[in-house]
Amino acid sequence: MNEYSAPTQFIDLAAQQKSIRDNLDKAIAKVLDHGQYIMGPEVKEFEVKLQEFTGSSRALTCANGTDALTLVLMAWGVEPGDAVFIPSFTYVATAESPALVGATPFFVDVLEDTFNIDPQSFKQAIIDCRTLGLKPKVVVAVDLFGQPANIDAITAIAHAEKIKVLVDGAQSFGASSKGRRVGSMGDATTTSFFPAKPLGCYGDGGAVFTNNDADAHLIDSIRLHGRGHEKYDNVRIGLNSRLDTIQAAILMEKLKIFPIELDDRAKLAQEYTRHLSHPDCVLPLLEPDNFSSWAQYTIKTSFREGFRAELTSKGIPTAIYYPKPLHLQKGYNTYPTVSSGLVNSNKLSDSVFSLPMHPYISDISMHVKNIASIFNDVGKPK
Ligand SMILES: Cc1ncc(COP(=O)(O)O)c(C=O)c1O
Repeated sequence: MNEYSAPTQFIDLAAQQKSIRDNLDKAIAKVLDHGQYIMGPEVKEFEVKLQEFTGSSRALTCANGTDALTLVLMAWGVEPGDAVFIPSFTYVATAESPALVGATPFFVDVLEDTFNIDPQSFKQAIIDCRTLGLKPKVVVAVDLFGQPANIDAITAIAHAEKIKVLVDGAQSFGASSKGRRVGSMGDATTTSFFPAKPLGCYGDGGAVFTNNDADAHLIDSIRLHGRGHEKYDNVRIGLNSRLDTIQAAILMEKLKIFPIELDDRAKLAQEYTRHLSHPDCVLPLLEPDNFSSWAQYTIKTSFREGFRAELTSKGIPTAIYYPKPLHLQKGYNTYPTVSSGLVNSNKLSDSVFSLPMHPYISDISMHVKNIASIFNDVGKPK
């Protein structure tokens, strides 16, 4: 057993709730009192706060991070015959949205050290997609585990080919690159407020960020069933994709403590990086210009089951994101892949695992010391 009285949580939402419960209760009660459960005043208020926080000129909330991706692709007119380039090593939603609008998800490899999309692999995929008769339309740069993707390199390649850049910031809300907050980069950015995300609500939620007023206008219409000048005027095919007023009220309370939480996540990541080492494992690389929201602290090792078994036996939970790359998933294995191969996506799925990551670990130094001593024992004969 570890040395704590309370078991270590992988993500501790209960501790967070406890710390702000009174304010949450008041915020929820206010919504119950006014009764505007759909698109109530808190939704607009929260969107303004998101704009202020990210530096994006427009923030539009929606039902979840998957719909957020779909809303952008619909607004951009992505359709059958279009290729949407996506990293294979990501959550399924990144591929699901292009497939849902009838486009072709085109799988690209990631970099081994940052886990994010590889610009060279993307470049090759553009050539490959034209050979297949597809039109290169959008690249989705996923900020995996909270670290911003190399947006400048990706944008330079994409814009030279008239390809739009969509940042999937589902895991990176709060992160930044060269002083630019996630939400202000790319041609549009999406995020998720799924409970386990860095900023999570108590259900599903998501948002789109854009600096383009025409896109914002379209996305606003599409999220409301293709609404025109009023509710029963429907000018295009849309979705029913709104953030519940209660979730907006909850998220505003959580946003107040979010900057402190981000710092605490960063402190934990720094301590892991400073004190954990093992000849058989590689710790995550944070690019010098990046501030990560540390959705996950993810380690690579050729001895994954050994590490996990040892940690589990000492009460430290771990998780694997993601055990199978998307191009090998049954639902997606018929979509095209880059001709230079998906070596890193395959390798990472076989070697990564993540340690507990949240801002409510009561004694960080003890927690990290505990894991460091478990690491020392990994692989030693008993
Ligand atoms: C990279 C990525 N994209 C998209 C999503 C979809 O978000 P949601 O679960 O809110 O639909 C997730 C959620 O886990 C994600 O991790």
